[in-house]
Amino acid sequence: MPLELIQGDIAAQQTCAVVTAANKELVGGGGVDGAIHRAAGPELLRAIRQIGGTPTGTAVITPAFRLEEQGVRFVIHAVGPVWKGGNAGEPALLARAYQRSLELAAEHGCSSVAFPSISTGVYGYPPELAAEVALGTIQDFLRTHPQMTVRMVLYGSQNLQVFQEALRQAGQE
Ligand code: APR
Repeated sequence: MPLELIQGDIAAQQTCAVVTAANKELVGGGGVDGAIHRAAGPELLRAIRQIGGTPTGTAVITPAFRLEEQGVRFVIHAVGPVWKGGNAGEPALLARAYQRSLELAAEHGCSSVAFPSISTGVYGYPPELAAEVALGTIQDFLRTHPQMTVRMVLYGSQNLQVFQEALRQAGQE
């Protein structure tokens, strides 16, 4: 299945690339980013600090360092938008963060990539709305990259249900 929804921990995946929800300063953070950095080790932080920053709606790619021991080759640091009520271009910025991450994975020869639900933690993006954007962007990408497997790794059963429901609704349109 080219699109998978699972409940789990992003840092425990064995896909070619894993995506983390970073900030535009690329200084490391908590939440999903903390989990990835703990698993990848301190070299990951040095690598992103060297890059220095990346605008909202973009992503950068680094080696996976200690995550390579479980078969991950790359970490993609995606910067989603802070939710400001929905009229500040948030959906387009979130779509671009997913799109750029997918492109980077493909450009680096990956046929599998795992995503967390970008922007729906500290950045406050409503999960139902984020799921619609994430799934729409991934499904568009998969139409032109049918060899790619994309796994959404949702934290907690409630987030998984939100994504499952959004996928059902997208299928009915
Ligand atoms: N695996 C998968 N998902 C996780 C994990 C994990 N180990 N830990 C948290 N999550 C989920 C959260 O429940 C949420 O649904 O990831 C989603 C994104 O939450 P955040 O990590 O808070 O990311 P975001 O909302 O994009 O905020 C980014 O937080 O850590 C800082 O530096 C980061 O400033 C940036 C901001």
